[in-house]
Amino acid sequence: MRFKFVALFVLVYLLSTISHLHDAIFEYNVIGNGAKCDGKTDNSNLSRSECMINWYYKWIIHNITSLDSKMFHINIQNCHNINLKSTTIDASIMSLNTDGIHIGRSNRVNIIGADTNIGDDCISLGDGSQHINIENVTRGLGHGISIGSLGKYHGEQRVVGITVRNYTLTNTANGVRGKTWPNSYKSIAYGLHFEDIMMNNVSNPIIIDQNYCPSNLCRTSVPSRVRISDVLFKDIQGTSAVDMAMQLRCGKSLPCQNVKLRDIGLKYVGMDKSVKNAISQRSNVKPSIMGRITRPACLTF
Ligand SMILES: *[C@@H]1O[C@H](CO)[C@@H](O)[C@H](O)[C@H]1NC(C)=O
Ligand SMILES: *[C@@H]1O[C@H](CO)[C@@H](O)[C@H](O)[C@H]1NC(C)=O
Ligand SMILES: *[C@@H]1O[C@H](CO)[C@@H](O)[C@H](O)[C@H]1NC(C)=O
Ligand SMILES: *[C@@H]1O[C@H](CO)[C@@H](O)[C@H](O)[C@H]1NC(C)=O
Ligand SMILES: *[C@@H]1O[C@H](CO)[C@@H](O)[C@H](O)[C@H]1NC(C)=O
Repeated sequence: MRFKFVALFVLVYLLSTISHLHDAIFEYNVIGNGAKCDGKTDNSNLSRSECMINWYYKWIIHNITSLDSKMFHINIQNCHNINLKSTTIDASIMSLNTDGIHIGRSNRVNIIGADTNIGDDCISLGDGSQHINIENVTRGLGHGISIGSLGKYHGEQRVVGITVRNYTLTNTANGVRGKTWPNSYKSIAYGLHFEDIMMNNVSNPIIIDQNYCPSNLCRTSVPSRVRISDVLFKDIQGTSAVDMAMQLRCGKSLPCQNVKLRDIGLKYVGMDKSVKNAISQRSNVKPSIMGRITRPACLTF
């Protein structure tokens, strides 16, 4: 009995020492096709690699430069308390299905100062993303920032406390979006804050889609079982490439709760001369409106 106790004590001591070793500043300047992300290896020529950050605890990672990586550029999984600063991601060839930064099952991740130019989602947040702070990000082509898609698999963890602030999107296919599957497993996403976002000719600037089904192989008649609540869209300005600038499509059985819109101004800049103003659409949500919502026209709200 006493031995077990001592062994346990030693184990805990060793673990805490090891985690302190991780309490350091790492800098990566990896040019090439992804990186191993151990801070030392330059595996520039490993074309199928991604920058995988897995099971890190308390790291500050500066200046990752990732060029033309396959799949996810930077994949953060099972991490606690890490900071990514001044990250540069560039996929000069349009690589479809390449996410810039993917985060899942991680707690307290700060992404501060990033410049991405890639094919698919700029930053995607999967299940178990908790207390994620994304700030000062500029990007070019791609999909924008998305939470989800959620609810596809049994046992997904909840998404809690996502803040995106000072984020500029240019010519992207989506702006800020949350998506969940119809006929999904049960889950929860709450505390989703998007503020100080600049949209330049973005195709779906603001979108919540609880009927997300890209394959068209879903039972869309059964609503999503992912509950979305405490959402804030604040100070979102700029231009929309499509007339439908804001879509809040929540699930029938679990309407979105406590959704706030504050200071939104999105101007339509598409080619269709018959469109005067950007418009919006909602279902199963009654957002509270604050500040100035100049555009899209909110007649349906
Ligand atoms: C990558 O490939 C180039 C050309 O084949 C070679 O010169 C270079 O040393 C390689 N770099 C690494 C880190 O292996
Ligand atoms: C960050 O990366 C850039 C480009 O690779 C390099 O010029 C700069 O010195 C790096 N900064 C640090 C702090 O390593
Ligand atoms: C927003 O982020 C950019 C860098 O991406 C920075 O230059 C700018 O000063 C930031 N603005 C604010 C208000 O924080
Ligand atoms: C974002 O950029 C602004 C202006 O450069 C800076 O003041 C602010 O501290 C940055 N945010 C973070 C979290 O570093
Ligand atoms: C605006 O976005 C649309 C759709 O992505 C694109 O066809 C068009 O070229 C963009 N306009 C500019 C000025 O970049």
